[in-house]
Amino acid sequence: MKHLHFDCIDSTNTYLKKEYRNLDNLSFVSASIQTSGHGRFSREWHAMKDESLLFSYILKDKTFVENFSYISMITAALIVEYLENKGLNNVSIKWPNDIYVNGKKIAGILLEGEVPNYIVVGVGLNLLQTSFDYELRHPATSLKLEKFDLDITTASEYNVLLNQINDFWANFSGDWHQFDNFIKNHNYLLKKRIKLSNISSNIEGIVEDIDSECNLLINNGKEIVKICAGEIEILWVLK
Ligand code: BTN
Repeated sequence: MKHLHFDCIDSTNTYLKKEYRNLDNLSFVSASIQTSGHGRFSREWHAMKDESLLFSYILKDKTFVENFSYISMITAALIVEYLENKGLNNVSIKWPNDIYVNGKKIAGILLEGEVPNYIVVGVGLNLLQTSFDYELRHPATSLKLEKFDLDITTASEYNVLLNQINDFWANFSGDWHQFDNFIKNHNYLLKKRIKLSNISSNIEGIVEDIDSECNLLINNGKEIVKICAGEIEILWVLK
């Protein structure tokens, strides 16, 4: 596996985007701290030094780039597997790209890229935090908070998770649907009432499913509306 670790970097996603011409498919970059870590909608991604896993990987092979709509969900499924292997329960995917444990966000995924040249997948995963004192939009948790007795460091967990992701893509069978049932069974939003907006409309309704193309299916009382990940701007879970 090709893995480059920086003590400090602006953003591991930005690095791969700048350097994509010089990098091989499945190159990984991680950092102890980022000065311009960002999430979706250009939101700041805040993480103290060596408390989180902060990494990105690049996919350049044509077959991956052309199927980019599956890549975020498959990465989410791999992270859920990793957390379940650590003994965590109640791990789920908040469509389209957050990982939740017991109703709190533990990880986020940010996909960026240029089709057909490359896709960069960035992951921020809370590992060792024991409290979150900065302003966050969602309640947050970390692996350490969920399971105090784990003997983990960022180095040990980069080793486990990056190898797991690398092995998956390096041996990819070509079956984009192998996680379909797993994703359906880990759908955080299932049966929740949500509201979301995109450029053309506002939709409110009950989440019924995630289909095999990774679209969210919402029952708005009249019909089932299909939302593709790229369309989403705001997603609220209503109480
Ligand atoms: C989100 O929840 O909005 C996605 C957050 C993604 C953050 C990670 S941290 C590593 C990589 N570098 C970045 O600047 N962002 C991603």
